[in-house]
Amino acid sequence: DKGNHRHFMAKEIHEQPEVVGRTLAHYLDMSAGRVRLPFELPFDPAELTRITITACGTAYYAGLTAKYWLEKFARVPVEIDVASEFRYREAPLPKGGLMIVVSQSGETADTLASLRYAKEQGQHILSVVNVPTSTIARESDVAALTLAGPEIGVASTKAFTCQLAVLACLALAFGRARGVLPEAEEQRLVSNLINVPGLMAEAVKREPHIEQMAGSLAKATDVLYLGRGTSFPLALEGALKLKEISYIHAEGYAAGELKHGPIALIDESMPVIVIAPHDAVYEKTVSNMQEVSARGGRIILVADQRSADDASIAFEAVVAMTPMPSEFAPIVYAVPVQLIAYHTAVFMGKDVDQPRNLAKSVTVE
Ligand code: F6R
Repeated sequence: DKGNHRHFMAKEIHEQPEVVGRTLAHYLDMSAGRVRLPFELPFDPAELTRITITACGTAYYAGLTAKYWLEKFARVPVEIDVASEFRYREAPLPKGGLMIVVSQSGETADTLASLRYAKEQGQHILSVVNVPTSTIARESDVAALTLAGPEIGVASTKAFTCQLAVLACLALAFGRARGVLPEAEEQRLVSNLINVPGLMAEAVKREPHIEQMAGSLAKATDVLYLGRGTSFPLALEGALKLKEISYIHAEGYAAGELKHGPIALIDESMPVIVIAPHDAVYEKTVSNMQEVSARGGRIILVADQRSADDASIAFEAVVAMTPMPSEFAPIVYAVPVQLIAYHTAVFMGKDVDQPRNLAKSVTVE
């Protein structure tokens, strides 16, 4: 049932404040302002020397975001790879290490094969899954559930933000267990997480503006998506979402990589979408935007208004986000990124719920 939405994808984008809120409530002790995992860990996070993450597609980008959080909040080195590479490369894994697999369906063939490989190598397996009865959930030592509810649209939206919510909570829980996250810092971060669903609801309100931008984006044959830090995985996700439902060629890049090649592509016809919350690397991203602007590039900025004003660049459009502490910005900024893809595809008359050549669950290699 699509409710009063035209597509399941629209419904699922709009549901996110609610399902992310529900997922967070499952992993947080709201009154104490602390993380509270709804399961016992069968290993001691303090003893981990490395975490390996593997997944495919959008779930991989959730995992890539988690790498930043786990390294920063839990001070544990994280290795991550797409499952179709990981499963074949005979990676040596540390004794008693942890493998985190991320999967909405819990049935993705390459992700499952990676899980089985890691198990053979003596790893503990923690899966972040949306389908509790799935093969991946059943074969894991711990299944950390995303409470997104059934996701019908082929393009993943609410499962992604719920994966981010769970992974953020895990990073904080591991930080505490490893003795590297002081209680006051945990409480500050948890209160930021508690504000995320409300901020997502505000982000949804940018929809009419994003819808207006869609006509101009729909004319592009190529789009570049840039981000730094935790906005980098989101740039990759933005490009994936745009190509899978609008069929516009889009590429995500780490903003700092621009000058190492892709800057050659910049001209007046290619939109460059930049995700730049006001975080520690914001100033660096501004220099990258100046490089684009100096070459006549068209920049669409997704940032708070202060970031937009401070940059003193003539933007083609600004999706103005509510200012927020930056740590968990990707969960909120995912909303405009999804809406940009959605409205561009709808403007072009594409079947957003059933994009060509794609299946919801990829159970073949
Ligand atoms: C993109 C998308 C895919 C999936 C990928 C993994 O919108 O839906 O990239 O994220 O096929 O699927 P799961 O999460 O079911 O393992």
